[in-house]
Amino acid sequence: KKKIAVMTSGGDAPGMNPAVRAVVRAGIYYGCDVFAVYEGYEGLVKGGDLLRPIGWEDVRSYLSLGGTAIGTARCAEFRERAGRLQGAYNMIVNGIDALIVCGGDGSLTGADLFRSEWPSLVDELVSTRRLTAKQVEPYRHLTIVGLVGSIDNDMSSTDATIGAYSSLARITELVDYLDATAQSHSRAFVVEVMGRHCGWLGLMAGVATGADCIFIPERPPPADQWASELKKVCSRHREKGRRQTTVIIAEGAIDNQLNPITAENVKDVLVDLGLDTRITTLGHVQRGGTAVAYDRLLATQQGVDAVRAVLELTPADPSPMIGIAENKVVRRPLMEAVKFTKEVAKSIDARDFDRAMQLRDSTFAE
Ligand code: F6P
Repeated sequence: KKKIAVMTSGGDAPGMNPAVRAVVRAGIYYGCDVFAVYEGYEGLVKGGDLLRPIGWEDVRSYLSLGGTAIGTARCAEFRERAGRLQGAYNMIVNGIDALIVCGGDGSLTGADLFRSEWPSLVDELVSTRRLTAKQVEPYRHLTIVGLVGSIDNDMSSTDATIGAYSSLARITELVDYLDATAQSHSRAFVVEVMGRHCGWLGLMAGVATGADCIFIPERPPPADQWASELKKVCSRHREKGRRQTTVIIAEGAIDNQLNPITAENVKDVLVDLGLDTRITTLGHVQRGGTAVAYDRLLATQQGVDAVRAVLELTPADPSPMIGIAENKVVRRPLMEAVKFTKEVAKSIDARDFDRAMQLRDSTFAE
């Protein structure tokens, strides 16, 4: 009987619980035993109670549960070979040789490294007499499948990461609230949103709320011009009758000289324009809470496919990442997706930004 372990890793994202639920139930449906790894990679390293069977009933109500109930953590030990050796040991003594990881690109890269090292880890467990050759024989190969869970939507080869649309919905709702109070007082708000290296959340939230201006890392404005441009755009919108000013800034925003552009910097410019300005940093409310329907569906379809992939893959196949492209669940080579993400570095097509800006301005066209 195949034994599969499921784990969440890195920053939590809405939809991780539905993903775990789908893996657990699909696993059982396909006749496998499913284990949960608690607290991310720490659970693999520590084993014991942190690596234990999980059943159909255990994931009841996971669909509408925010965060990740099996926990997540950043684990320094797993970055060292000794930690991964212990992880391999704990998996083998539990009879597990397939791992489904839901996390961001860092977590998934860690999983693929674990897979490529696996044969040598197994050899070491035998040569150091922690396990016998006979014990390890059925576990010569490790199957890894990745599910991308991240609010940032920062992975290439998939249209959406699990959690991104929930976070976007939250941000949109919160900016609407701010717009109401901004309008009442004729104020300006600078809203800082998450997305360390990726401006997808900022850009999409800006379009969804009709923000006056958006700052994202992928589109660094000229260092010596952005302030005057911002003033121009905001004044123009005010002249056309807009009572509030809303600027959305991604936490990783920079100018073309690579200087950070902070919410404070933007506020100073708006104050200089004579606007009564407040800063709101949305913070982790963007990440917690229940998943929107889309993320629940995405997580469910992808979780089921992750189990199927485990059952279908051969040792020669590269580790897949389950993605979505043109509304179809797809499997893509995990490391290729990570490489594209790094190469393109900024996964937003610059044209999207221009289109968004045009769209915003056309709202105010004569
Ligand atoms: O990658 C997800 C994310 O939420 C980013 O958008 C954000 O920059 C970061 O995690 C925050 O990390 P932490 O929760 O460790 O502060």
